[in-house]
Amino acid sequence: MKSFCALLLLLPVVLAAKSKVEPCDDPTPTTEIQDGQRGTLIVIPPQPTETSGIKQIPDAHHPFIAPGPNDQRGPCPAMNTLANHGYIPRNGIATFEEIVSAVMEAFNVELTFASTMVANNMLARGNVFANKVSIGGVSPLVPPYPHKIDGPVTGGIAKHGRSEGDASLTREDFFIGDARNFQQALYDEDLAQLAIYGDDGPDGPHTVFNVQTFIAIKNHTLKRKQALNPKFAFPLFRLNGAYQQNAFMLHIFANGTTKQATLPIITSFFRDQTFPKNWFRATSPVLGSTNAATANQINLGVGVAPGRNNEHGIYVADPPPPAPFNATLGCSGYWDGARNTAAVLMNTTGIFKKNVDLLRSIQFNTSGCPVQLPLSGPAGV
Ligand code: HEM
Ligand SMILES: *[C@@H]1O[C@H](CO)[C@@H](O)[C@H](O)[C@H]1NC(C)=O
Ligand SMILES: *[C@@H]1O[C@H](CO)[C@@H](O)[C@H](O)[C@H]1NC(C)=O
Ligand SMILES: *[C@@H]1O[C@H](CO)[C@@H](O)[C@H](O)[C@H]1NC(C)=O
Ligand SMILES: *[C@@H]1O[C@H](CO)[C@@H](O)[C@H](O)[C@H]1NC(C)=O
Ligand SMILES: *[C@@H]1O[C@H](CO)[C@@H](O)[C@H](O)[C@H]1NC(C)=O
Repeated sequence: MKSFCALLLLLPVVLAAKSKVEPCDDPTPTTEIQDGQRGTLIVIPPQPTETSGIKQIPDAHHPFIAPGPNDQRGPCPAMNTLANHGYIPRNGIATFEEIVSAVMEAFNVELTFASTMVANNMLARGNVFANKVSIGGVSPLVPPYPHKIDGPVTGGIAKHGRSEGDASLTREDFFIGDARNFQQALYDEDLAQLAIYGDDGPDGPHTVFNVQTFIAIKNHTLKRKQALNPKFAFPLFRLNGAYQQNAFMLHIFANGTTKQATLPIITSFFRDQTFPKNWFRATSPVLGSTNAATANQINLGVGVAPGRNNEHGIYVADPPPPAPFNATLGCSGYWDGARNTAAVLMNTTGIFKKNVDLLRSIQFNTSGCPVQLPLSGPAGV
């Protein structure tokens, strides 16, 4: 486009003869400056063509390298593992396209499902104008939004309150401890439930994770955290996220050839943040609907209503979502997520607005809700 514009400048006489002068701007720009910051148009990457059959991960181009002191890591064992193997940038700062492509390549997650996970987290804790998110904490590589409309810093997915929440499997509740890094003591509590409810497998009796194990783990963790954490909160969007993340372990972390999420496999992802030796990704694309069905089973089995502790430390259920948003867990999670994502993102323009609208459209299309919702949450939290 630049050379075309330069050419126009050289031909003022020819142009003057025309009735309508084309502006020198690219008609469909893919970058734009707002408040001194460069924004980039987000484009959903294509689904890879080779998605069926046996594929070992990592390949030779993605060796494990431990993170350096300036590399961001956070509460997601999958993101940490992808960064440690260079499937996403090793510094832990990535674009929408980079994470979606990595999740498809390394985990064989289907495109729409992968896009939804990244859309949720980027709208919550990334900079969707600059098209950057930190998989850990605040980073100088992810600037605050133009005019700081969602606060003076962009938090990263480790920041408590939107993406990061209470009652994790291996991270402490934010109010009482380290919500960002793996905690062996919490993992040991999970493994005590595995030893009771787990299936038998190649590593011995009760060593394979299953739905019943997650129901027991969550039942245990929710009771403990509710009692220990005065500020304990388990709202709908967190409840949905937590059970989806449990289900990820059965459908995405499991060995693709055996479909088993064994103790050494889960330990490798969680504690060591590396792909297990001799690990195979899922043999066909993992669908959001498959994962959601397992999350529903866990939700029904645990049977805890979304809610939070009041000032007396008593757990009080939140009011249920209004119809039609109460129909399914997926739709209720979407409703509650929209209420907790900064409303000010609705007031954007240009490429900023295009990116917000694309990510909202991804969220809505997979929500199962009949009506699209605006983002309506507070900013700067
Ligand atoms: C292949 C896809 C993914 C898998 C298998 C996966 C797996 C998991 C698991 C198992 C947890 C629970 C950790 C725990 O409870 O201790 C988790 C948490 C988390 N994940 Fe992921 N994840 C995936 C994609 C993503 C993406 C794309 C993002 C954001 C860019 C993300 C952000 C998070 C966050 C913020 C948490 C913390 C939630 C909390 O415990 O408070 N995840 N993930
Ligand atoms: C949940 O834990 C309690 C004890 O804290 C136990 O009585 C109950 O059977 C458990 N329920 C499930 C579904 O594991
Ligand atoms: C995955 O399953 C294959 C058999 O299909 C086995 O050879 C391999 O060791 C398993 N990998 C892990 C990490 O359990
Ligand atoms: C949703 O809310 C409406 C109105 O309160 C109620 O009639 C309906 O039974 C609820 N649906 C579900 C699935 O809870
Ligand atoms: C968005 O802009 C409208 C119109 O200027 C304004 O009324 C509204 O308060 C703004 N909302 C937010 C969340 O900034
Ligand atoms: C969402 O669905 C609508 C209607 O089918 C479609 O036009 C739109 O392109 C979809 N959005 C995305 C991001 O796939």
